[in-house]
Amino acid sequence: MAGMVSIKTITEESMAQAKVLLEGGACVAFPTETVYGLGANAFDGQAVAKIYETKGRPSFNPLIVHVRDMEAAQELAEFSDDARALAAQFWPGPLTLVLPKLSGCRVSELAMAGLETIALRCPAHKGAQRLLGALDFPLVAPSANASGSVSPTTPAHVADSLGDKLKLILADGACSVGLESTIVDCSGDQPVILRPGVVTAEMIEGCLGKLPVYAGQGQGVKAPGMLSKHYAPGLPVRLNAIDLEPGEVLLGFGSLKFMGVRGGGAALNLPDTQVRNLSADMDLYEAAANLFAMLRALDRPAHKGIAVMAIPEEGLGVAINDRLRRAACKD
Ligand code: TXA
Ligand code: MG
Repeated sequence: MAGMVSIKTITEESMAQAKVLLEGGACVAFPTETVYGLGANAFDGQAVAKIYETKGRPSFNPLIVHVRDMEAAQELAEFSDDARALAAQFWPGPLTLVLPKLSGCRVSELAMAGLETIALRCPAHKGAQRLLGALDFPLVAPSANASGSVSPTTPAHVADSLGDKLKLILADGACSVGLESTIVDCSGDQPVILRPGVVTAEMIEGCLGKLPVYAGQGQGVKAPGMLSKHYAPGLPVRLNAIDLEPGEVLLGFGSLKFMGVRGGGAALNLPDTQVRNLSADMDLYEAAANLFAMLRALDRPAHKGIAVMAIPEEGLGVAINDRLRRAACKD
C-alpha cells in the first residue's frame, strides 16, 4: 500500500478531490500556518474515529475543531467576553480556544473525548481557509503525524509518517509558524494557557488586560496531552461482562442474544434506557463513534453500574479499551 498517497499543491482540482474524500468520511492532510493537520469531518463520529486509527493513537485525546470563521465557531461553543476578545484579535491565526460546548453542538463526542468543553481554532493559512470555506462542516485536525513522532511542518514529513495510510496530502511547502497553536482554556473564570505557542502570555495580557496563568503552574511541567481532564462516568464500570448483575445496565458490542441477567431474564428484554450497543456488527469505527455518547446515556444515578461486553484488543479497540479501563479504575 505504500506510495499510494498523492501529494498535490492546492488547486481547484485538488480541493475538489479533498472535498469528496472528506465528505465521504476519509482523512485528508492539509497545511495550516502552524503544522500540517490530519483533517476529518467533525460531525461524523466514524470519520473522527479514523483520525485516531490513522495516527495509531493508543488512547482518545480530545482534538482541535477547525472552523472557517467566528460565525461557524459560535454554532459550537459559548464565548465569554475574554474568548470573544481573543478571537477578535488573534483569529484567524495560531490560537486555539477551549470553551464550553453548546448543547446543540453537532461535533461528535469522540472529538472531545467526552469532555463538556471543545477546542476551537480558526487557522489563517490560505489553503486551510479555502478548504474550510468549501465544506459545510468543521474539521477535526490533530497534527498529521503518527502518534509519538514530531509534528510535521512539510508535506514530506506527512508522507514519511502517514503516507501509506492516506490518499491525499494537500501541499503548500513549509509551515510559516512551524509550532503548534497556543491553547488557551477560556471555560473558567481565568484564562489558562494549556499549551504555549507563538501567541504568548504577554500578547494575551495585552489583549485582555490581565495575565493568563499556565496550567500546572507551581506543580512542575506537564506534557500537553496530560493537561486535559478526562470524562469518566459516575457509575462503576465492569469490563468483559458475560452477563448482567441485577440493576446493571449494558454497554454491548456485537450480538446481545446470549447476554442474560443473573437471577433470570435476558438483556435484550431490558427497557431501552438500560441497554446500548456500541456496534451490533462489531465495527470498531462505529463503536468508537458511539462510545462517549452511549456511556453518558447509561450513566444515570438510578442504575447500579455499567457492564461492558468484551471488545477486541486490536486496531481502534486498543483506544476504546484504554478509555474503558480508565473509566473502570477511576484514576
Ligand atoms: O497547531 C495546531 O493546533 C495543530 C494544527 C493542525 O491546527 N493541531 C494540533 O492538534 O496540535 P493536536 O491534536 O496535536 O493537539 C491538540 C491538543 C491536545 O494536547 C489536547 O489535549 C488539547 O489540544 N485539547 C483538545 N481539546 C481540548 C479540551 N476540550 N480541553 C483541553 N485540551 C484540549
Ligand atoms: Mg500533536
